[in-house]
Amino acid sequence: MYYILGIDIGTSGVKAVLYAEDGTLLTSATEEYPMYQPQNGWAEQNPAHWWEKTVLAIRRVLQLSKADPKQICGIGLTGQMHGLVMLDQDNNVLRDAILWCDQRTEEECRTLTKLFGREQLIRVTANPALTGFTASKILWVQKHEPECFKKCRHILLPKDYVRFCLTGDFATDVADASGTQLLDVQNRCWSDEMLKCLGIDPALLPDVYESPLPTGRVSAAAAAQTGLCAGTVVVAGAGDNAAAAVGTGVVRDGTAFTTIGTSGVVFAHTDTAHIDPKGRAHTFCCAVPGAWHVMGVTQAAGLSLKWLKDNLLQNLQAQAKQQKIGVYRLIDQKTMDSPIGANRLLFLPYLMGERTPHLDPNCRGVFFGLSAMHNQSDLIRAVMEGVAYSLTDCLCVLREMGVTAGQMALCGGGANSPVWRQMLADLFGCPTVIMQENEGAAGGAAMLAAVGSGLFASVQDVCDRFVKTQQTIPPCAENTPQYEKVYAQYKALYPALQDRFRALAELE
Ligand code: XUL
Repeated sequence: MYYILGIDIGTSGVKAVLYAEDGTLLTSATEEYPMYQPQNGWAEQNPAHWWEKTVLAIRRVLQLSKADPKQICGIGLTGQMHGLVMLDQDNNVLRDAILWCDQRTEEECRTLTKLFGREQLIRVTANPALTGFTASKILWVQKHEPECFKKCRHILLPKDYVRFCLTGDFATDVADASGTQLLDVQNRCWSDEMLKCLGIDPALLPDVYESPLPTGRVSAAAAAQTGLCAGTVVVAGAGDNAAAAVGTGVVRDGTAFTTIGTSGVVFAHTDTAHIDPKGRAHTFCCAVPGAWHVMGVTQAAGLSLKWLKDNLLQNLQAQAKQQKIGVYRLIDQKTMDSPIGANRLLFLPYLMGERTPHLDPNCRGVFFGLSAMHNQSDLIRAVMEGVAYSLTDCLCVLREMGVTAGQMALCGGGANSPVWRQMLADLFGCPTVIMQENEGAAGGAAMLAAVGSGLFASVQDVCDRFVKTQQTIPPCAENTPQYEKVYAQYKALYPALQDRFRALAELE
């Protein structure tokens, strides 16, 4: 029996999953690390933590599964997209990584748009300049930390830093590279035009591969640290959303999934590169060689609920500990005490600014309509609904672009919530589907390794073997009109507050 390992460098932690070649999940292990917010709207992480915790997660998976490392025939990497990691000539990390949800680069996005032209940017990179993407972060370091930039010899994305630690190679994949805004997305290679225009030396960038292709092998040093076998093949893998598409079997036209992790994403596979001329949804290469995807992003999806839990639900945390159950199960139960609309309480989940559909780094979270009669259940329901409304905004943009999907696969931690599953079915107006294994991106990365190590001929083949539906949740006809009324109120709030958000951001 052969095994394959998937590793997901997420925002809240790293997850390692081990599958057998027949699609059986043997075990998974997660290790958490902190995110730092040195200023309002900034978000950073220490790349050393990613590697330390990856070593622990791999060791734990090997220990729990008792799998013989010699039988692991491939490793796939995935992770949070867009983050900027910079190494010096001795391959030391130069500064903490600036993450996907960091919003400090509004000015650099304006510069980028001026230098390259908005239409040209959309033509080449398939996206307008965005604060979340890597290019504007590079410009920020060039401008604000020139000494640091001068020393920079390698620019990497988060999972590719872990690849470097694992294999010593500088490599990435087309899907993750699409989120740098330095890739020619139609032609699936670094864009000479962009690099020249921004004065970025192409030698700083890693080699780009299609997702299932091998990029290197586990080094002797990494083998000694992790317990893996030196020489095990490591494939390119994919950014977390492209990998989650593989994990949920979204690898053909007409299929789509929604994930609620730290961020939330509505993602549709497309065999041709569809581009939103208004730039509200992203168009990226996907993990299926020669295909693309479009996706809308909610910056703070699971993050909104985590924020509420950490700051206002200490009683539920204590109760969960006492009852030895997951706190999110209790949180889910609490929403049952509040009706649709949370007794006229709305939440805008813009804790880290928002991408789809507003592309606004300055907007922030809002509870609207707070009354003395509201209780904890209303707050929880309002937050969960706010995230679902934002994801509905994403789906509406995709539908405007002509994307159709008869059902919506769900993954990420949010897919474990029966409340969110039903809410999304009711708001999307189509069934939501959950899989037998909710391993999302990590599972997808392992499946890409199964292709790259020769166990399967194509990404579609491995999906047909590995991905199995557990449950389909139809929309509830009674709920939809009630949600629609509240959603209309939700949609009216951003335009009413847009100028206030900017004014607030400019307050000293
Ligand atoms: C996608 C995005 C997030 C991150 C974090 O564009 O920024 O989904 O990948 O997981």
